[in-house]
Amino acid sequence: MAVDPLIELSGVNKYYGELHVLQDVDLTVGRGEVVVVIGPSGSGKSTLCRTMNRLETIESGTISIDGQPLPEEGRALATLRAEVGMVFQSFNLFAHKTVLANVSLAQTKVRGRKKDEADKRSRELLERVGLEDQADKLPAQLSGGQQQRVAIARALAMDPKVMLFDEPTSALDPEMINEVLEVMQQLARDGMTMVVVTHEMGFARSAANRVVFMADGRIVEDRTPEGFFTAPESDRAKDFLSKILKH
Ligand SMILES: Nc1ncnc2c1ncn2[C@@H]1O[C@H](COP(=O)(O)OP(=O)(O)O)[C@@H](O)[C@H]1O
Ligand SMILES: [Mg+2]
Repeated sequence: MAVDPLIELSGVNKYYGELHVLQDVDLTVGRGEVVVVIGPSGSGKSTLCRTMNRLETIESGTISIDGQPLPEEGRALATLRAEVGMVFQSFNLFAHKTVLANVSLAQTKVRGRKKDEADKRSRELLERVGLEDQADKLPAQLSGGQQQRVAIARALAMDPKVMLFDEPTSALDPEMINEVLEVMQQLARDGMTMVVVTHEMGFARSAANRVVFMADGRIVEDRTPEGFFTAPESDRAKDFLSKILKH
């Protein structure tokens, strides 16, 4: 288990109006750990991710990253957003900038790197995600799987302490899913701390240290993948697994 916690959520509650979307959430993610979050649509998985880099505020409880409570605003918040890399279902690349410029932009703006230095780092990261020969193209000239790998490189360029992935392969055609999962597998093997919302059970089984199952804004199970998939404890998880493992 997590001996050296990097992310700690304790008693976190969040509401959208009347909707109690996160209910007494406690979650610890250790340094170098890969935690896969699964659960039905609307259970609060995206909201959970978004609270961890303060894209969403919370009503009560505490969240800390590397021992520091999440900052509220200003420069500290910009630093936090850089340290907590986020990859969404939609890639959100700048359409009129090259792949290289997309990866370099925040490095110069947020990390204060010189353009040459940023571009050098970008090329290293593009190589790491298998796209070194695509640097001068525009996003639209790439496949969805390639664009998602650019988005991963862009997040890595900020030297994040943790990477959050919110259904990174859900918008991709089936033949492109594996190329993205392989990049994520490699990141995991390299020791990156990762929180991954995904329905890719193969990835969960092979890469996750723990599976967190959410339902109705609560963490219902927090287990090893082996334990969760072979012997889910809750009816909600049994029901969910029977539905997704059927096809
Ligand atoms: N900005 C928002 N305003 C109001 N309700 C929201 C907002 N974002 C999400 N919700 C609601 O919160 C619940 C959890 O959403 P979400 O975290 O996106 O779930 P998941 O990612 O597990 O599908 C859902 O009922 C959703 O409709
Ligand atoms: Mg979601």
